[in-house]
Amino acid sequence: MSRRILVTAALPYANGPIHIGHLVEYIQTDIWVRFQKLRGHRCLYICADDTHGTAIMIRARQEGRSEEELIADMREQHVRDFAAFDIEFDNYGSTHCDENRELCEQIWKSVTDAGLVIEKPVEQLYDPEAETFLADRFVKGTCPVCKTPDQNGDHCEKCLSNYTPKELIDPKSRLSGATPILHEAPHRFIQLEQLHEFLDEWTQSGEHLQPEIANYLKGHFLGDELRDWDVTRPPAYFGFEIPDFPGNYWYVWFDAPIGYIGSTHQWCKEHGESLDVWWRSPDCEVHHFIGKDITYFHTLFWPGILKTAGLNLPEKVHIHGFLTVDGEKMSKSKGTFIQASTYADHLNPSYLRYFFASKLSSKVDDLDLNLDEFKAKVDSDLVGKVVNIASRCAKFVADQPLSNEYPDDGGLFQQAADAADRIAELYENCDYSAAIREIMLLADRANQYIEAKEPWTLRKDESRQDELRDVCTVGLNLFRQIVVYLGPVLPRLVNQTDELLSEPIRQWDDARSPLLGTTVNQFQHMLKRVDPQQVEKMIDDSKETLPGGEAPQPSTLNQYNDGPESLAAEPMSGEECTFDDFMKVDMRVARVVEANHVEGADKLLQLTLSLGGDETRNVFAGIKSVYDPEQLVGRLVICCANLAPRKMRFGLSEGMVLASGPGGKDIFLLNPDDGAKPGMRVH
Ligand code: 2FM
Ligand code: ZN
Repeated sequence: MSRRILVTAALPYANGPIHIGHLVEYIQTDIWVRFQKLRGHRCLYICADDTHGTAIMIRARQEGRSEEELIADMREQHVRDFAAFDIEFDNYGSTHCDENRELCEQIWKSVTDAGLVIEKPVEQLYDPEAETFLADRFVKGTCPVCKTPDQNGDHCEKCLSNYTPKELIDPKSRLSGATPILHEAPHRFIQLEQLHEFLDEWTQSGEHLQPEIANYLKGHFLGDELRDWDVTRPPAYFGFEIPDFPGNYWYVWFDAPIGYIGSTHQWCKEHGESLDVWWRSPDCEVHHFIGKDITYFHTLFWPGILKTAGLNLPEKVHIHGFLTVDGEKMSKSKGTFIQASTYADHLNPSYLRYFFASKLSSKVDDLDLNLDEFKAKVDSDLVGKVVNIASRCAKFVADQPLSNEYPDDGGLFQQAADAADRIAELYENCDYSAAIREIMLLADRANQYIEAKEPWTLRKDESRQDELRDVCTVGLNLFRQIVVYLGPVLPRLVNQTDELLSEPIRQWDDARSPLLGTTVNQFQHMLKRVDPQQVEKMIDDSKETLPGGEAPQPSTLNQYNDGPESLAAEPMSGEECTFDDFMKVDMRVARVVEANHVEGADKLLQLTLSLGGDETRNVFAGIKSVYDPEQLVGRLVICCANLAPRKMRFGLSEGMVLASGPGGKDIFLLNPDDGAKPGMRVH
């Protein structure tokens, strides 16, 4: 039976380009949508740019143009990047559109009428020159703890302390340089706690979320009262003004997911359909694909809003992990922070689609793009196995028809046809890596057949030309089956195959019956091996130039390719530390036995460190931007165990975990070599 399915991928912010980390999700989703369409279902792939918020407002000001101009440019770039990777949306909208504004108003009315909205005063720093409230990252000043200058409003990169912008010494606005003043403004909040019972049930039903996500929500949020959610912002803000709260705007995270519906509405208007059949109908399944960092919004806040507004709840929220490159976080200095357009300048997008597919499962695990593995996999699977089947058969029957009756192939075609349901189930469950493994087994069998039949030998024997046609008919049909199964991943290969065999692949069931009698066209080159020089050039082009200069020249690299930029970014103080000074610092090997998010803290994790036996330390570490609590439990770290306990906003911190790096996404915890035990002193 044909299903009606509405699929979304997260709306990318309109203040930056698309990079390969983003592409994991858009490709994952595109594969799923193409699969559903191939199966004959009614399916829409909906997305849009996420355009509101302070960051976009400020960037537009800095560039001396309107927000509208900025987001229009960015949208164009995004659309181009997605198209280059064959990511085909049914509608790519913008959250800054009339449809979205109207929907925000309707939905706001529903949550207000349901009694979920309350008003409370919020104190925040305000820039009197720029006339805007300042998000924490737009304030700088001297750290109130270690007195390092030029630190962010809420966090010191040097001593990792967290504080409120109010505590910062000599605060300055990063926008105008003015001294910010404390201003109080009313904000409106959604009382999520009123939906607690519903959210318990919806998240834990086992149907809508991956089990690890359901457990995470239960352990981290649903065990406590759900906090009120601040969904409005005072001016200046780039967003939609709230009709019953004039002069105030909805916070970007309120209108962003509503953008899913706004963008659907645009599609409906263009196609003369009613929005209700997609968003207010039990006959439509809504599927969201998102990254793990925005789990909270999509699994608590968003279902709560949808439920209150009487809209379709997601059938499933599919959550994926982050992309690493060569086992590490993408890094601008290493050239692994690769923009979509830079990739497309050098390499075939089909490679990346295939590689991601071969790695993606239904789990939330991170995914690694190891560049050697990338080349090996593409070369061996796509070029060596799949395309090879066609190139070894097609040339012997070019401009000739396939046999009119399907020849005896020892059951190979039937065997592969029988795999259709199994492979379909794997795609349906987002277990693409398992699907690819099955498909590659079919490719192996097809290649074995061709090797056994040796069409290149048959060709030389005039009396065996019928046999040659039969062998090629089998080979090309086995190839076409594989292309049907790979179709969601490799749409270009589908088009090439359509041309080669003069008959388009239209549906999944095309893999169940062989093609007979159609003309085989001249074989055109389909896919070449990954050129390692292009991979290198892509990495080079992705290396960010250092501020005020060029990327490091070879002469500034040592024999291990280590450049001077890290040291330059944080020069040594030159002050001597005596042996006695050093011995005063009691550093120990410790094991993380518990790790938790800290409510209300953007950057902190709370860690319980064991020094062996019953000796523990409670430590707040500013490493949330890089580490998940789950990743940390069980691992060894080095901690300063005799640091004077410090009272922080969130509790008492009794030590410090040693980490390196400039902060933000570049934080690296230190860990001892194997064999070290908690409690051992570091000398
Ligand atoms: O995290 C992000 O990149 C957001 N722009 C995602 C928004 S998804 C949806 F809610 F709009
Ligand atoms: Zn500090």
